[in-house]
Amino acid sequence: MYETVKPKEVKTWFKAAEVSKFPKNGGACIKYKDKQIAVFNFTREGTWYACQNACPHKMEMVLSRGMIGEENLVPKVACPMHKKTFSLKTGENLNGELEAIATYPVKVEGDVVYVGFSE
Ligand code: FES
Repeated sequence: MYETVKPKEVKTWFKAAEVSKFPKNGGACIKYKDKQIAVFNFTREGTWYACQNACPHKMEMVLSRGMIGEENLVPKVACPMHKKTFSLKTGENLNGELEAIATYPVKVEGDVVYVGFSE
């Protein structure tokens, strides 16, 4: 149900929320259709990321509450449950063999954050 969307595959820029709704260096969950998406405001990097909110370990809807950071220049999120970490760029599980999480393009225009979907 969750599939990575590349920037060139975006058909819909979904208006997620205003920038102020996302904590600095943290995440918040948004809903698009039946999907829960974690959106991260990586202030330290000046970048935004989005991924599925479900952690593939136990399919808990928790990744938006994860800690974000960097490992070897790769931005990552650590699941708050059992600390599995995932690249916010490729979705790859960096400390295990779990399946990759889906990632989505994000853009900010003015004060508004948009997440890109392919449908
Ligand atoms: S549910 Fe995410 S690491 Fe276990």
